[in-house]
Amino acid sequence: MAMKTVMVSGGSGLLGSNCLMMLKDSCRVVGLYHSHSVELPGVEMWPVDLRDSAAVSRVIDMVKPDAFIHCAALTDVDYCEAHPEVARLLNSDVVGNLAGLARRNDMRFVQISTDAVYDAPHGDSSETAPARPLNVYATTKLLGEQAALNENSASLIIRTCIYGWNARNKLSFSEAILKALLLAEKIALFRDVFFSPILVNDLVDVISSLLAAGCSGIYNVGASHGISKLAFGEMLAELSQLSTLPICSISIEEKNLSAARPRNPVMSVDKVQAALQRPMPTVEQGLVRFMRLLGGGYVNNIKSGVATLSDLREVWQ
Ligand SMILES: NC(=O)c1ccc[n+]([C@@H]2O[C@H](COP(=O)([O-])OP(=O)(O)OC[C@H]3O[C@@H](n4cnc5c(N)ncnc54)[C@H](OP(=O)(O)O)[C@@H]3O)[C@@H](O)[C@H]2O)c1
Repeated sequence: MAMKTVMVSGGSGLLGSNCLMMLKDSCRVVGLYHSHSVELPGVEMWPVDLRDSAAVSRVIDMVKPDAFIHCAALTDVDYCEAHPEVARLLNSDVVGNLAGLARRNDMRFVQISTDAVYDAPHGDSSETAPARPLNVYATTKLLGEQAALNENSASLIIRTCIYGWNARNKLSFSEAILKALLLAEKIALFRDVFFSPILVNDLVDVISSLLAAGCSGIYNVGASHGISKLAFGEMLAELSQLSTLPICSISIEEKNLSAARPRNPVMSVDKVQAALQRPMPTVEQGLVRFMRLLGGGYVNNIKSGVATLSDLREVWQ
């Protein structure tokens, strides 16, 4: 399906901003944000509070998108734990409303969900594995998936875990590690928590392909294999030729977290690989692309004036 206009919520967030930057050369993109305005070259950004359903309907009537990629969410796990009603409103009720609007306006709807719905002793959870959300964030994201499918059975639901370059000052997991490595600040990484993270730019490529193939339903989209958070950090240090000395290995048992976290939300990506007839990237391939985006000028477009590790060191100091 050729798409002329794509609307992306969470345009000021990690995934939304990169989604806009990646799609803007192939179609008209309109980004929505709430409280943080970001400037992305060549991208229209509109302020909308997604909890205001009348405002959302107006913006959709004006833009008439062919697809709505819903990247906005309440993503702060500890905040969600302390404010379950607020989390439920944004991560579930808003999703159902958007999915219904998409159905009535004949546009494709993509809901971004999370790998945190899984926690299996040996990982490798497929889309049909029983969900095991351990905290309010994951529970409300799971409710959001159900709301999307109830309102619009053609919804495409992406369960994922992401990292990449943020347009805003907020740091993604890979940026937080890189910052610690560059500034030689101690960073503690779990040796006993595993995940299968995907670079946001790789994720956007996969979403585009799934939409083009007319896919709907639930898909796990992550790296082709799992890795511990500690090994991920060490791999990033090695690829960026920085010392691993700031990294220290800890167990999740040593942390007093206010919300429980899954220890093994590693996903099986067999379904998406079969649908697209191509492998998902390995963790190393994702991290190599992450570093290449810096040297290749992409990061300079979303973080003005940042093109090298030295630039990052200055910005983060
Ligand atoms: N980051 C991860 O590691 C990770 C892992 C698994 C799944 N996910 C999922 O991936 C998606 C994208 O995550 P992300 O890390 O890119 O998120 P993020 O950086 O935390 O950004 C969240 C976005 O939601 C917007 N938002 C919040 N409340 C809003 C409201 N009332 N109205 C309109 N927009 C609102 C924010 O806008 P303002 O900032 O302008 O207020 C922001 O653009 C989410 O669905 C998340 O659950 C993320």
